[in-house]
Amino acid sequence: MTQGNSSIKTLRFGIIGCGLMGREFASAAARWCHLTDSPAQPVITAVCNRSAKPFDWFTKNFPTIDLVTHDYHDVLSSDQVDAVYIALPHHLHREVYIAAIKAGKHVMGEKPFGIDRDANEAINVVIAQHPDVFVRCVSQFPFFPAVQRIGKMIDEKQFGQIISVQTGFLHSSDMDVNKPINWKRMIQYNGEYGVMGDLGMHACHVPLRAGWQPNHVRAILSNIVTERLEAKGSETKVPCETWDNATLLIDTTDPVTGEKFPWTLRTFRIAPGEKNSWYVQIQGTKACVRFDTRNPKQLELLQYDGGQQVWQTIQTGYDTAYPTITGPIFEFGFTDAILQMWAAYVFELSTNKIPSKFAGCVTPQEVAVSHRIFDAALKSHQSTSVESI
Ligand SMILES: NC(=O)c1ccc[n+]([C@@H]2O[C@H](COP(=O)([O-])OP(=O)(O)OC[C@H]3O[C@@H](n4cnc5c(N)ncnc54)[C@H](O)[C@@H]3O)[C@@H](O)[C@H]2O)c1
Repeated sequence: MTQGNSSIKTLRFGIIGCGLMGREFASAAARWCHLTDSPAQPVITAVCNRSAKPFDWFTKNFPTIDLVTHDYHDVLSSDQVDAVYIALPHHLHREVYIAAIKAGKHVMGEKPFGIDRDANEAINVVIAQHPDVFVRCVSQFPFFPAVQRIGKMIDEKQFGQIISVQTGFLHSSDMDVNKPINWKRMIQYNGEYGVMGDLGMHACHVPLRAGWQPNHVRAILSNIVTERLEAKGSETKVPCETWDNATLLIDTTDPVTGEKFPWTLRTFRIAPGEKNSWYVQIQGTKACVRFDTRNPKQLELLQYDGGQQVWQTIQTGYDTAYPTITGPIFEFGFTDAILQMWAAYVFELSTNKIPSKFAGCVTPQEVAVSHRIFDAALKSHQSTSVESI
């Protein structure tokens, strides 16, 4: 980290993988002034991508970039880079995450953080060997204000005994059978996990941060569209072998009470009518909540003290974990969650702490549990069995 020309520190970032998510991070860094109290500011100094296509957008919008390359090794050997954001297809995670950590760069890595459990374990071995490198995994939805509030309720044990939990992430663009195949629908790039590798970490973040312990899983995986056009405009179809939808029933223990409860986790690429719906629902003996990004500022809450059971609807506004210039009555959205998540990464890297339990990015330990869940889910589906996690 270097001292910039103001009192705020500068954290120099390289972006490896300049696709959809690489641009989201760059955009968040570009509006860092939105945050009022960040101890450091990310500055993009290097970009790396396989094709040259995104480079124009980056260099036009980020004059701080002085390294543009197709080879990620150039980013890792640059002394102008303190940290890297790695947003690559899943088959590359193992190699590039390990190389980045060994090069001493702090890492924010995209999920699933290794194409499979084996790859994730290999990454975790290297993380353990480099305690000075700060490593976190992307997952932005818990930064919605309603979810921060749910996290506070979990932390304060307001739910009583947990009765059941449902989390999930639902998409529907794959309903379109004419949508051509892409790397996220190919096992060699996306992994055997299929949709779980793509959406699963998002659905795990809150339960794992809560400290709830998944014990066993019974999973049903569905491949609904089994072939797709090989490219836009082509009439040739190729096999599409990844799992489209995954439904997991996980028996889970709340270590606070020692009680068990069912956690139902759904990740669907084919959920009719759902564009990008991330949700969490918790039923407890003292309180229940429902949140869905379909209604991003709405938190439904039922508190039970022996009287009437009444669902309230609370408008959560822009009450964020990391303070911003935005007024508290205004609306919060996807890109705000991305900014808050990055604020969390920078805050924790700079101060070695997080302001509250749910205001931190996913840790490597949490990612490891998510891989154990998905790996067991694959086995469960294959043999119609209940698998230990
Ligand atoms: N957090 C989220 O909400 C979210 C959303 C979508 C994707 N993701 C994750 O982000 C990661 C990337 O997904 P994406 O949607 O941005 O994909 P993408 O296809 O849009 O971008 C990937 C980029 O990597 C580049 N690339 C491929 N091989 C490369 C190599 N060897 N060297 C350098 N660049 C290379 C590609 O050219 C492409 O620009 C994945 O892990 C995915 O699961 C996260």
